[in-house]
Amino acid sequence: MIDPSIVVTRDRSRPGQEQPEFQQGEDVRMLKLRNGVDWVGYDFENPPIFSEFAPEWKYTIGKKKIDLDLDVLTELLLKKEKELVDKYPAASDGSTMLGPKSVTSRFQYFNVMDKETWDYDIIHKLRKEIKKFHKQYVKSIFGDDHIVPRTRIRCWFNVMRKGEKIQKHYHSAHGYTYIGGHFTVKCGDSSTIYVCPFEHDKPFELKNEAGSITLFPNYIPHYTTRHKTDEPRITMAFDITLLNNVVQFDTDAKQLPIL
Ligand SMILES: [Fe+2]
Repeated sequence: MIDPSIVVTRDRSRPGQEQPEFQQGEDVRMLKLRNGVDWVGYDFENPPIFSEFAPEWKYTIGKKKIDLDLDVLTELLLKKEKELVDKYPAASDGSTMLGPKSVTSRFQYFNVMDKETWDYDIIHKLRKEIKKFHKQYVKSIFGDDHIVPRTRIRCWFNVMRKGEKIQKHYHSAHGYTYIGGHFTVKCGDSSTIYVCPFEHDKPFELKNEAGSITLFPNYIPHYTTRHKTDEPRITMAFDITLLNNVVQFDTDAKQLPIL
C-alpha cells in the first residue's frame, strides 16, 4: 500500500532515449525575468530550503536577437553539411539521437569558429556577437564589477529534417563546466525545452526564433520539439570553455580558438 501523502512525479525521460512529446508543465519553479537592454533572461532558483538535504540551484537562460544575414548563413551551412558528411565517418552524435547521417555526428571533427577552415565574414560577425552576449550575460548575473573570464569556443551545427527532434542531452558537468549556447538560423515552429537538473518533470519551453542566441550553463539538459515542416531546421551550437579548462575531447586536434 502506497502512502497517499507521498506525491510521485514521473520522469519518463532519460538522456539518450526517445522523449515523450513535450507538454509544458504548469509549475516552472521560481521563474523570474531578467531584462537586459537588448536581451532577456529567465532565472531559475530552488525554493526555500528547510532541510540539509534539499537541493540548491540557481541559473539563468539568456536569449538575444541579433542582426545577421540568415540566408547567407543557411546557404553556407547546407554546403558545409554535405562536405562534412562526405568527408568524415559518423561518430558520437552527443546523445541527440540525430544518428549517423547527421552532420551533428561529425561535430568532433570540425569547429565553425576555427579561423583557418571557416574564414567567412558572417562567421566572424557571429563570433563577435556571441562574445558580446557572453559579457552581458556574465555581468548581469554576477555584477558589473565581475571580471569576465577569457574563453575559448567549440562550435558545430545541426540540420534537422521533417520528423526529427533532438533528444535530451547535456553538454558537460565536470569541474570546468562553463556555458553552452545555440544560434538559431532557421527553425519553423519549434521549441527548445530546458530541464532543471533536479526537476525533470517541470520543463521550461523556449520558442525558437531565427536570429536568436541562447546561453545557459552547460550542465542544463535540453531537447527540442519535433521538426514538422519541409524546410530544414538549422541551428548552430557551441560550448564556451574557460581558458584554463583541461577537460577536452580526445578528438580535439588543436587548442580551441579564443572567443
Ligand atoms: Fe545541446
